Amino acid sequence: MKKPTPLVEIAAMGRYLPDNIVTNDDLAQGMDTSDEWIFSRTGIRERRISPPEGLGAAAMGAAAARQAMQRAGIEPGEVDILILSTATPDRWLPSTACDAQALLGCTNAVAFDIMAACSGFIYGLSMAEGYLAAGRGEIALVISTEKMSSIVDWEDRTTSVLFGDGAGAAVVRLANGANRGILSSHLRSDGNLADLLNRPGGGAQHPMSQAVLDDRSYLVRMNGREIFKNAVRSMADACERALAQAGLTADDIDLLVPHQANIRIIEATAKYAGIPMDKVYVNVDRYGNMSSATVPVALDEAVEQGLIRPGSHVLIVAFGAGLTWGAMALRW
Ligand code: ACO
Repeated sequence: MKKPTPLVEIAAMGRYLPDNIVTNDDLAQGMDTSDEWIFSRTGIRERRISPPEGLGAAAMGAAAARQAMQRAGIEPGEVDILILSTATPDRWLPSTACDAQALLGCTNAVAFDIMAACSGFIYGLSMAEGYLAAGRGEIALVISTEKMSSIVDWEDRTTSVLFGDGAGAAVVRLANGANRGILSSHLRSDGNLADLLNRPGGGAQHPMSQAVLDDRSYLVRMNGREIFKNAVRSMADACERALAQAGLTADDIDLLVPHQANIRIIEATAKYAGIPMDKVYVNVDRYGNMSSATVPVALDEAVEQGLIRPGSHVLIVAFGAGLTWGAMALRW
């Protein structure tokens, strides 16, 4: 099969993680859980939590973006499009992207949010690729920022222990002919499964009211077992399709960077994708599930650690509420 020529590439990554570390033992002091239960089922040891008076989604995202822009050597005014993914907007109007735009000074950009839950970075990167490849601009900023601690139900031990806060960002630009960049993109969603993971109350259908506050339906609800099954099935399929589209096989992949929700989901996905665990990046132990921020934070760490080098073939894959899922193959 003819190998695709990349039109768009990632110029640089950045990340922001709150300083405040909350361990499983810390959580066990306030709820009926234990480090043993959480670690054995999820692989999570600790997560970062931005306190209520700490940075919100726009400010965390802006911090990650500043680092990415500095590394890419670009000025805020050069950004043509700013795409921000979050499940935790700072406020319902305007978009968190516009707030981040103002913080960053990206005055020449079109800025908007996308809501694709944990798949948001991959959706955003794919949207940026299309916009730039169509000739609408030269530089995109893709930001994923999540303050999950603000939407989980801290009275529900089955969900609250899984999540954490953080942000990642990528500067994306037209490829310069060096044959590096995005090789493929496979995105899908299935709204029929929306009830498996959602926040039923507090939106337009059930606006915020005393009843919504009382039944706590404005917070995250999840059917963990069903999510688990669908996550593995969807991510394995997406990996296969993204590889085929790129004209690559699993053996060509130097590093798989999957969404970090649960080590067992990661291991099962890698197994079905035919990629050994020593080629899989894992940081779920340190950060928990930061929704769409997990993939860019993991990518950034992997680059910093030298696990991704110029010429590396990287496969990114994610899955989340919606349901949404997707995978992309990249040549770094
Ligand atoms: N501490 C101690 N006990 C707990 C906890 C906890 N934090 N949470 C649940 N339990 C108890 C349950 O009450 C249950 O007790 P019971 O048997 O007396 O009723 C027992 O542990 C087992 O509960 P299960 O739900 O059966 O546990 P399971 O082995 O299925 O693991 C888990 C639960 C970890 C949530 C798993 O289903 C999972 O990882 N699912 C995927 C979730 C996920 O990753 N979601 C995000 C992906 S999509 C996205 O990122 C947005």
